[in-house]
Amino acid sequence: MTGCSSGLGRALAENLARTGEQAVVTARNPATLADLAEAHPATIAVAALDVRDEAQCQAAVDLAGERFGGIDVLVNNAGYGQFGSVEEVSEQEVRDQLETNLLGPWRLLRMVLPQWRERRSGHSILVSSTCGSMSLPGLSAYAVSKFALEGLGESLALEAAHLGVKSTILQLGGFATSYGTSLVEPARRIEDYAVAEDGVLAGTRAIADYEFTTPVELFPLLVRKVAAMAEPPLRVPFGRDIEVYLAAALRARHQDFEQALAEGRHTAEWVTP
Ligand SMILES: NC(=O)c1ccc[n+]([C@@H]2O[C@H](COP(=O)([O-])OP(=O)(O)OC[C@H]3O[C@@H](n4cnc5c(N)ncnc54)[C@H](OP(=O)(O)O)[C@@H]3O)[C@@H](O)[C@H]2O)c1
Repeated sequence: MTGCSSGLGRALAENLARTGEQAVVTARNPATLADLAEAHPATIAVAALDVRDEAQCQAAVDLAGERFGGIDVLVNNAGYGQFGSVEEVSEQEVRDQLETNLLGPWRLLRMVLPQWRERRSGHSILVSSTCGSMSLPGLSAYAVSKFALEGLGESLALEAAHLGVKSTILQLGGFATSYGTSLVEPARRIEDYAVAEDGVLAGTRAIADYEFTTPVELFPLLVRKVAAMAEPPLRVPFGRDIEVYLAAALRARHQDFEQALAEGRHTAEWVTP
């Protein structure tokens, strides 16, 4: 599991520790998990893991092999939000966002897949967001990272199901964590975008107080439910606000697609002058 210093990852780590599951729990600062390792030395192993660091990724995978004989379930949870419009975010800010939210999970999967192919079993759980299927003003880089993450999970399902590999994407609504306060603002702001973005920024910063926010305690239950399923679904939309945002966005997209077909936008006639 990645990103266990706080929020959803910490809640899952505590839950697994309490119930005696074997787990390698990881964080950029492993001191944040020392209490769990001390209280549960036989079942909880801690690794320093910044998902951007290839050597640390490999060391964490190796530790799971040494301590527990391998990895059954990989939970790619670590992530953050880069705020800013398409024009405001710099190329470096986009690269940083993708390095953590997309390439980190991909890197770990690449390291774990050989053992899953050999065993003909394994389960990838990717922590995505409603922003994996819809964007909001100012969430361009974050939405791109989560859209791409969902492409990763979907590709894995198609490519490796016959090898016994399961792939699940958790499409989470708002949870009361430090995600909102950790949101990184771009170095460059452009006043013209403020009218569209500022409400989203304020709303995301206050996500923990939002009336539809989902309690963090439900996240470990969700992961455990999915991990225990013989045939888990590829996508699990989860949270109190899913109907408000994700369901509405997906229905609108579906309607738009049907409208495109009805108007013949997919045909040669539509483009022929
Ligand atoms: N909370 C929500 O409303 C919500 C909704 C949908 C999806 N999500 C997703 O849920 C996941 C967990 O977020 P959260 O809500 O629990 O927020 P959080 O409390 O801010 O936790 C984020 C975790 O990711 C870690 N992290 C960030 N960059 C990392 C890196 N390069 N390498 C390793 N760890 C890194 C953080 O570690 P440090 O302490 O070292 O920074 C922290 O442990 C994220 O992928 C987020 O996109 C959250």
